[in-house]
Amino acid sequence: MTRFPKTFLWGGAISAHQAEGAWNEDGRGPAIRDFMTVDPQTRKRLLTYVNKEGKKCFLAYDHGETLPEGAHFEAFDDRYYPDHEAVDFYHHYKDDIALFKEMGFSVFRMSISWSRIFPDGEGQETNETGVEFYHKVFAELNAAGIKPLVTLWHDDTPALLEEKYGGWQSRKMIDFYDRYSTFCFKEYANEVAFWLTFNEINNILMFLDMFGSQPSDVKYQEAYQELHYKFTASAHAVRTAHAIDPSIKVGCMICGVPFYPSTDDPNDILLNHYTWEKGIWYSSDVMCKGKYPSFSKRLWKEHDVHLDMTEEDLKDIRDGTVDFYSCSYYMSSSVTTHVSNDLVSGNFAAGVRNKYLEYSQWGWAFDPKGIRFFLESIYGRYELPMMIVENGLGAVDKVEEDGSIHDPYRINYLRDHLKEMAIAIEDGVDLFGYTSWGCIDVVSAGSGEMKKRYGFIYVDKNDDGSGTFSRRKKDSFYWYKKVIATNGEALD
Ligand code: BG6
Repeated sequence: MTRFPKTFLWGGAISAHQAEGAWNEDGRGPAIRDFMTVDPQTRKRLLTYVNKEGKKCFLAYDHGETLPEGAHFEAFDDRYYPDHEAVDFYHHYKDDIALFKEMGFSVFRMSISWSRIFPDGEGQETNETGVEFYHKVFAELNAAGIKPLVTLWHDDTPALLEEKYGGWQSRKMIDFYDRYSTFCFKEYANEVAFWLTFNEINNILMFLDMFGSQPSDVKYQEAYQELHYKFTASAHAVRTAHAIDPSIKVGCMICGVPFYPSTDDPNDILLNHYTWEKGIWYSSDVMCKGKYPSFSKRLWKEHDVHLDMTEEDLKDIRDGTVDFYSCSYYMSSSVTTHVSNDLVSGNFAAGVRNKYLEYSQWGWAFDPKGIRFFLESIYGRYELPMMIVENGLGAVDKVEEDGSIHDPYRINYLRDHLKEMAIAIEDGVDLFGYTSWGCIDVVSAGSGEMKKRYGFIYVDKNDDGSGTFSRRKKDSFYWYKKVIATNGEALD
């Protein structure tokens, strides 16, 4: 039985801020993520800044943070910032790509650090060393027969844009992103196979009230506004890319969490329906169908949201629909209207415990069938080619005395998800590629930890910042190599 099409793309994914390091080298400007530390008590992520009175302050990172007026980001000497060095992909990319080639990758997802190209984010002056760095990485990948898949924004807005303009609360961001994306398309069009405009664009809305909190209407207003500016910027990017070269492929990237009603109480069924609308369909419809769905008015009314949205924006959104649908998939989430004391809360999703599922050490549900359900639900609605661009298990790995790393838990997780993907393909989903998340260990975005590892390749870097950055192959490395060599036939 052929499970995957012959042209299926196999690979892995990382993001700039979690992998590159070299945060202040070679003319790179600061990005918000550079100021994200870990609270030693709560283990939650905090942004550090100095307010206009000169006082050192901390801001909880909750997907909707805004810097107070007159404040500026600052890295404090007595704090640790995991992204500063990350896993030093900046200096190790050649060796890392050689390992990806050895595994047989045909695609590699990475992101460009906006502030490495335009240090202040505004797009007036380029940082030539930064521009050159990505040329070198793409050249290395293409020479290895690996197609680059590039995310333009992976949660790392240039810090100066946040300080000066309030980041994505400002319409000006559309112009800055236009300049940045246009530059990238023109500069790298011949070297990059696929582009994604915004990583997990739906996060800001989906996770706003998922942690038991009751955000104010102001938070909703901000989230919907940020999304509208991002949708518009994304649509511009799609149009620009196609004007430069109609064959450039640009996709959306949605955080793929399928929701389940926790009981068959009709109230739970409705809640589940509305959770899909807000969390998944709202963003996906705008980017794939080019218009706000009919239920948007209800969503806006719920929180008294009034958007700065022009007729021109709506036209641009109509003309800038994506070429393909990409998403992450880690877990499903269950919702209920009933009081439940059994909540599970991964750092990126929370919900009621599903008694049929097992959970990882970080509270993430192990639900391979969820990936099939998500793929089929999405494909049924849009019929666009699809790609899974993140999927994997964050787990603690142990290096044995002989240097080997046995990670059967990761192999089990990935194998079971690949099997379900194969069924989705058989059921008619046009799935053309797969990049597992953190193919080489990277800094965890949610927790800032190194010990939450996803990779086939182990990086000697620890939570306290110690380590040599040396790379080591885990058992899963050899397993994935075999999976790719057999085009997904040899999964066991
Ligand atoms: C996705 C993000 O939501 O989840 C990645 O796009 C992130 O950047 C991944 O790393 C896994 O989350 P975490 O918190 O385990 O790193």
